[in-house]
Amino acid sequence: MTAVLQLDPERPDPEAIERAAAVIRGGGLVAFPTETVYGLGADATNGRAIRKLFEAKGRPADNPLIVHVASREMFRAVAADVDEKSERLIERFWPGPLTLVVRRGPQVAAEVSSGLETVAVRMPRNAIALELIRRAATPIAAPSANLSGRPSPTRAEHVLADLGGRIALVLDGGPASIGIESTVLDMTADPPVILRPGWITPEAIKEVTGAVAIAVTGEALRRSPGTRHRHYSPRARVVLLERGDPRFIQRFCEELLKSGRVAYLGHTRVDIESPDLSSIILENDPRDYARSIYRALRALDATGPLTIVVEGIDEAGEGAAVMDRLRRAASEIVS
Ligand code: TXA
Ligand code: MG
Repeated sequence: MTAVLQLDPERPDPEAIERAAAVIRGGGLVAFPTETVYGLGADATNGRAIRKLFEAKGRPADNPLIVHVASREMFRAVAADVDEKSERLIERFWPGPLTLVVRRGPQVAAEVSSGLETVAVRMPRNAIALELIRRAATPIAAPSANLSGRPSPTRAEHVLADLGGRIALVLDGGPASIGIESTVLDMTADPPVILRPGWITPEAIKEVTGAVAIAVTGEALRRSPGTRHRHYSPRARVVLLERGDPRFIQRFCEELLKSGRVAYLGHTRVDIESPDLSSIILENDPRDYARSIYRALRALDATGPLTIVVEGIDEAGEGAAVMDRLRRAASEIVS
């Protein structure tokens, strides 16, 4: 059985946090909210706990985890050394959705990094997550709390749907405020390389570091093993329409409806009256898309469509991270 504890995201109940911290210290698994998505946490210094975590998620062993810290001291303890650029990024963006890949210190279990010499670290900006790490008094390794390959969880109910019965405890802090995963930045390269786009944009990073590179697929594959695995996918086939021309979307959905149930996710309204069409309409805004896409993909998938048609958004600023996730979820892209 998986216990669920509901918590005030601003002022979490210390007793509930202590109960969760005790599970972590004892080598168990706890799902908890962060500002990006829910994480599935285990003690980053305990190799057995980490192996259990990989197993619960069905995660390939070659896809390393992000270690979550609650203070700079904890960061210095998990990193082998900290360069000056990293210090400045931390000053600017922590706590927040920026993950830094640095050389791994001896405290971190080797399993966390899937054998790499480096470790990915971030300080989340969520009171429940921070209190949990402080109380556990150990860095917490946490991938997104979904079954491997499924859309990331932005609510406790998503965690339960995927991992209920496999983990001890879920801390429910309500919906994640950002809704897509952190930016992953490799600080062992010069200039630093963005391995996974996220809410912190290349422009914002450049203001601090002077220059930043963005990994092209081949390089991201080599440096960030996670990017080669299938991601964020509902059961239905997802077709991404990169540009949303209203008439094209309309005809596209009508055509698909001839052969079965269809779901549509976008900011352009489609004018179709059919019991076989379920749709969710978002604002034409990266903030609303980020907050909504994983939940919407899960909800639409549950209506049993053959295809989920998704309308893209403009790639400027935070839109790039949203489009990255939509492309990974898609099995077909119409540009
Ligand atoms: O926002 C987030 O980052 C969420 C919350 C829970 O913090 N976590 C998350 O974890 O998205 P996960 O496991 O779903 O994604 C971790 C990503 C993967 O793409 C992985 O390959 C990359 O970080 N990564 C982890 N350690 C790495 C390392 N040492 N070098 C390069 N990439 C690494
Ligand atoms: Mg994930």
